[in-house]
Amino acid sequence: MHKKIRNNVYWVGQIDTELRQFHGSDYSTHKGSSYNSYLVKEEKTILIDTVWKPYADIFVKNLAGEVDLNSIDAIVVNHGEVDHSGSLPRLMELIPDVPIYCTAKAVDSLTGQYHQKWNFHTVKTGDSLDIGNGKKLVFVEMTMLHWPDSMATYMTGDNILFSNDAFGQHYATSTLFNDLADQCVLEYEALKYFANILTPFNAFLKRKLAEIIALNLPIDIIATSHGVVWRDNPMQIVEKYAAWCDDYQENQVTIFYDTMWDGTRTLADNIAAGIVEADPTVTVKVYNLAKTDKNDVMTEVFKSKLIVAGSPTVVNDMLGSVAGFLHFLKELKMKGKKAATFGCYGWTGEAPKKMAEYLEKAGFSLVDEPLRNNWNPDGDACESAREFGRRLAKA
Ligand code: FEO
Repeated sequence: MHKKIRNNVYWVGQIDTELRQFHGSDYSTHKGSSYNSYLVKEEKTILIDTVWKPYADIFVKNLAGEVDLNSIDAIVVNHGEVDHSGSLPRLMELIPDVPIYCTAKAVDSLTGQYHQKWNFHTVKTGDSLDIGNGKKLVFVEMTMLHWPDSMATYMTGDNILFSNDAFGQHYATSTLFNDLADQCVLEYEALKYFANILTPFNAFLKRKLAEIIALNLPIDIIATSHGVVWRDNPMQIVEKYAAWCDDYQENQVTIFYDTMWDGTRTLADNIAAGIVEADPTVTVKVYNLAKTDKNDVMTEVFKSKLIVAGSPTVVNDMLGSVAGFLHFLKELKMKGKKAATFGCYGWTGEAPKKMAEYLEKAGFSLVDEPLRNNWNPDGDACESAREFGRRLAKA
């Protein structure tokens, strides 16, 4: 079912309320998602992006109910990833000669995935497509935001930026527009999306935001490929991106750990108590990595000025849940954050030092020696953990 975005521009995408995992099982989608596709019906009829492959049949059926498929003059593929291009093979069976406007890298992506010789028209930043009624689509490469092939499309006259993944969120909302969404969910999901997907590309994003601002284009609507369409103060999400890509942090400390027999957990709780005691203004959050969604913990890490990682020592190393999380953390290339480590051990006790070495390689500044405790923490050990927390608060 289509929804009107503005004048002759319609949303023809798919809302996926049941989605709980994305990118395989790499990203949790507690609030579902949507695959936003747009139909522009000016003198020329243009389709912008499609939807994920499982919805190809319903997408094409709905589209055919909206417009004679043979009247589609062009398809714009802003990004080749399958959640946006997955319905192209089904659609192109019906209209095989329609030109596809995309970047050269997107041709690689689409050809590599679908092995079809479609009618590709490659575009670069500043290239445009006249769509009649005095309006144009202007293409803007969005390299590494978040894949090499990504681009955005700006529609003159209606001042709509079709931004694809940028400014999106995994949030299934039937009401579509940002002003009608649950604001708490929207803000959290936008931040989670940025923290878990876009953080490694901060340098690209800074340059791209400056480039978009320098183009001095009026932007009335930002139509993303996931989640809401930003029509109420759309620049609010651009301003948030500008802040988030600039080594973002809040007055927050996040402690994450795994534990075998609750010794390391006891240290975590006492470290948290020590931090709060020394600085009652700081927000402290504590998570057992084995029991908490990794993307949610990563969102909290993204907001933090200091992280504290804990693991008992098993076979001379940290537990796998912690190792996996630190690997993910290193991939995200966060900058400007501090770190410390802790853990209980029975025999050798290498885990806190190994975590510290890993975090240093991941770009974190260590602020204290690793806290190690032999066997279960007694009263003195709990006090040492609280004192460790007090020192961290002052670091
Ligand atoms: Fe929403 Fe990069 O795909």
